[in-house]
Amino acid sequence: MSRSIWNSTAPKTNFPTLKESLVVDVAIVGGGITGITSAYLLAKSGKKVAVLEAAEVSGGTTGYSTGNLYSMVDKRLHHIQSKWDEETAASVARSRTAAVNLIESLAREYNIDCDFKRVPWYLFSETSKKDETIEKEIDAASHYNLRVEEVHELPLPVKVSKAIKVEDQAQFNPSAFVRGLARNIENENCRIFENSPVYHIQKEEELTLSTPSGTVTAQKVILATHSPKGVYAVQTALYPYREYAMAAKLNSGDFPDGIYWDTEAEFHTSMRTYKVNGEPYVLMLGGHHKVGQEDNYTRFYDRLEKNLRKYFDVSSIDYRWSAQHYKPADGLPYIGESADDNIYFATGFSTDGLTYGVLSAMIFDDLLNNRENEWADLYKAKRFTPIKSAKNYIKENLNVARQYLKDLPGKAEADSFDEISPGQGKVVEVDSEKWAVFKDESGKVHCQSAVCTHMDCIVDWNDSEKSWDCPCHGSRFKATGEVIEGPAFSPLDKRDVKSKNDS
Ligand code: FES
Repeated sequence: MSRSIWNSTAPKTNFPTLKESLVVDVAIVGGGITGITSAYLLAKSGKKVAVLEAAEVSGGTTGYSTGNLYSMVDKRLHHIQSKWDEETAASVARSRTAAVNLIESLAREYNIDCDFKRVPWYLFSETSKKDETIEKEIDAASHYNLRVEEVHELPLPVKVSKAIKVEDQAQFNPSAFVRGLARNIENENCRIFENSPVYHIQKEEELTLSTPSGTVTAQKVILATHSPKGVYAVQTALYPYREYAMAAKLNSGDFPDGIYWDTEAEFHTSMRTYKVNGEPYVLMLGGHHKVGQEDNYTRFYDRLEKNLRKYFDVSSIDYRWSAQHYKPADGLPYIGESADDNIYFATGFSTDGLTYGVLSAMIFDDLLNNRENEWADLYKAKRFTPIKSAKNYIKENLNVARQYLKDLPGKAEADSFDEISPGQGKVVEVDSEKWAVFKDESGKVHCQSAVCTHMDCIVDWNDSEKSWDCPCHGSRFKATGEVIEGPAFSPLDKRDVKSKNDS
């Protein structure tokens, strides 16, 4: 199971559960970096705000990220430039720079102890095979007011052919930042609730959000939940992937801070350092697969550990975690109103979510206050870009169609509960219906329908996270069926184990 370095080291928050009926201007679903920064900006501009977090503040993707902040993008600026144009790539770099600057100023203003530091960002090739990628990125970045240079060595024990170094990027502990900001902004006009999952949004003249023990009625709703909750057309243009991370304490070596991205390695795509109580750690992030479409999830951690030990003198691996991201069809996130319905979302961040999350908050603040925002049009959620989206759209939606074929009879993983080991789950066919069956460590069996409550795909057992993951749009459920993340509102439908025995 995941244990993130950020959530384990940042002081926890203790906000109440919603147990009343509130009326506010803006309801925000999700207490990650997007939701909490949106709440801060909107409350500051005079809006009455309520944040509804299903679990704990920063307990979702924010707390399972890398803590890296940069103007560059996972997809590479030169790709944005060739898919879109130079002006678009410049706007992406400028807008992301503005978001990083806002994080720095908030950390300073509220004296948030989140280890915010300006550091260099590197993209490197280990052999000359990918030198051309580096050269193109140097060329692209040097057009956009970034301090760029070509280097041939890294301050890490990794051999390098060529690298781009960009100064003035940043790192922090994202959970310490978001929780610190949340503590500073909560007041009677900015209420924050934890353990308050939204399971329904009633759309009338106003919007009413229901949680198990309360409601919030609002003029506007922001779904700061990564993929928007519910069914939206944008979900055909969003593709869910998971990545893995490990933090290793070192026997020797105390490497300088920096963000290090590898263009070539199959498994370690990113590295950074962090200190816990003065002890140096190296974080390595890698592996990459579609959600709910793997046979052996633990192999990703095995490969990360092997790579860490290859490069560093590892004493112990104290933290490991995985996180989900959504790739957008045309390379840019979707930020804005969904369809003239007063519901706003921010999604498709790829692996660049911390910076895009804060940028989304800046855009929401302007949109909901009827102010111009220079980037709102570029990222608008309602855009239609068939040519730029076509390749990913066709490939990924064919993949989704294939997942629905798993619903055909005879595709179950086990015929009997006896085939399931303690601590594991399998899809079992019972009376022509697929059940998601989990056997806990005591041998007790927990049964639920394997049909995802979002749009009826069959879920897959994730043996690393002990969760049921949906291969279609990325909803994830606990072993016992409760929603963890993704567009599904409702838990998996319970099934009675007796009916299996009767049958
Ligand atoms: S997340 Fe859409 S069908 Fe499961």
